[in-house]
Amino acid sequence: MQCIASLPNWFQLPCDCLVVGVPDDWKSASYIGELDASLSGLLTKLLESGDVPTKANTLTMLLAPVGIPAKQVVLVGTGVSSEWNTSTAFRAAGTAAKSVANRRLERVRFVGFTGSPAEQRAAICGALVGSVGQDLLRKEKSLFQPEVYEWVGIEEENIKRAFAIGESVNLARRLVNLPANYLYPESFANEAQIVAQQYKLGIEVWDKAKLESERCGSLLGVARGSVKEPRLVILHYRGGDSASAPIALVGKGVTFDSGGYSLKPTDGMLTMKCDMAGAATVLGIMQAAARLQASCNLVAIIGLVENLVSGDAFKLGDVLTARSGKTIEIHNTDAEGRLVLADCLDVALGFSPAKIVDFATLTGACCVALGNDISGLMTNNIAWQSEIQQAAERFGEYVWPLPMHGFFSEQIVGKVADIKNVGEGRWGGAITAAKFLEEFVNKTPWTHIDIAGPAFLDSPKPWCDAGGSGALVRTFAEMLSGS
Ligand code: BES
Ligand code: MN
Ligand code: ZN
Repeated sequence: MQCIASLPNWFQLPCDCLVVGVPDDWKSASYIGELDASLSGLLTKLLESGDVPTKANTLTMLLAPVGIPAKQVVLVGTGVSSEWNTSTAFRAAGTAAKSVANRRLERVRFVGFTGSPAEQRAAICGALVGSVGQDLLRKEKSLFQPEVYEWVGIEEENIKRAFAIGESVNLARRLVNLPANYLYPESFANEAQIVAQQYKLGIEVWDKAKLESERCGSLLGVARGSVKEPRLVILHYRGGDSASAPIALVGKGVTFDSGGYSLKPTDGMLTMKCDMAGAATVLGIMQAAARLQASCNLVAIIGLVENLVSGDAFKLGDVLTARSGKTIEIHNTDAEGRLVLADCLDVALGFSPAKIVDFATLTGACCVALGNDISGLMTNNIAWQSEIQQAAERFGEYVWPLPMHGFFSEQIVGKVADIKNVGEGRWGGAITAAKFLEEFVNKTPWTHIDIAGPAFLDSPKPWCDAGGSGALVRTFAEMLSGS
């Protein structure tokens, strides 16, 4: 697929489908006028009669229009003009792209998706996301990416940036959508190798022997239940000056979470291939940073394990020794993500990062607190958290802070070891999980992002197929590349 700028006489040029964004105040949109003239007034007639809605994400199709060379026109409502932002732009373009992707098309042209450069990029990302589904392994695909997307009124340079970001979102989505018999620690590490090679990232992969010699006892404890050996992937991107400390991106990569001996019921286990979404997010962000030549230094630490049961799996009451030296009492083998991250965070500290952010599908409790569309932010440094919150707001994704009062830590004091891996009871479970992680970041500014809700869609949205969503790749790609 290719994304290019369209020519000024776009309405006179052939294409398979012309996607037209229609705002509530369409009368003041010049492109509607241009198109309407070629269509002999059909468009204004339809709009004036109210037969074509302008409500956000509503679709109307015109087949074989007379007067223009486009084979078909898809009108998509873009809603109230004053409410146009990076979120509504992403969704409207995604909705149109998804509806158009149900058939094989070569050239699709978008008009009416302008606004600020960030809004333009959001629309382009939306269109790239909307046209890719989760039917990776189906013989008969349900969505097809057109060969070319053309954008009217958007500069080539901005299209290039958006394309790099959109493809990175789709990378994260593809990895999340791959089932656990395709994607396991070793094969995820191979995917990271491919990205690193293509975009010139430094990479180091720790296998089981190396993890042992590095005394990553917490991560290794989780990994023991599976015959698939764990990996830890370290990626480097250097775009800033060599003296400046990197930002560390840490990702939970549990390629399948059965819960271990604290076994999940079938319903809860069914979608647990998604439990490596944090790792996929980090890889997506690293790819985007490299493609956008962001002027910062980044180090990524991705912890990859499979949480299964076996004769050698870790058990309730076991005590693990983390790389930092802290001992951890296991009260629930399903609270495994924090065990993997504990060692990853410690490895991150070794790079003396200026700040750390981790991404993890960490707790169901975070979904209870914030629903499925909002990621939870937890931090030891309000400034770093606010920076992330503001970026998410600006680029149209959804995050919200949860409190981190010191007394939550009382719940994770160990009975026989330094700490235990769950709180007392379920309440505040997203926060006690974060408090556990905080034990492994010393005083480094750190923000934990619990993406358990948004990372994976159980059912499709008009603008995105079900499955992996690539949540927050866009926000961080934009933020780190200084947009
Ligand atoms: N991977 C799950 C969290 C999760 C739940 C992600 C739903 C996506 C959707 C995590 O490892 C887990 O099982 N957490 C437990 C923690 C509990 C045992 C303290 C949970 O949320 O129930
Ligand atoms: Mn779990
Ligand atoms: Zn998990």
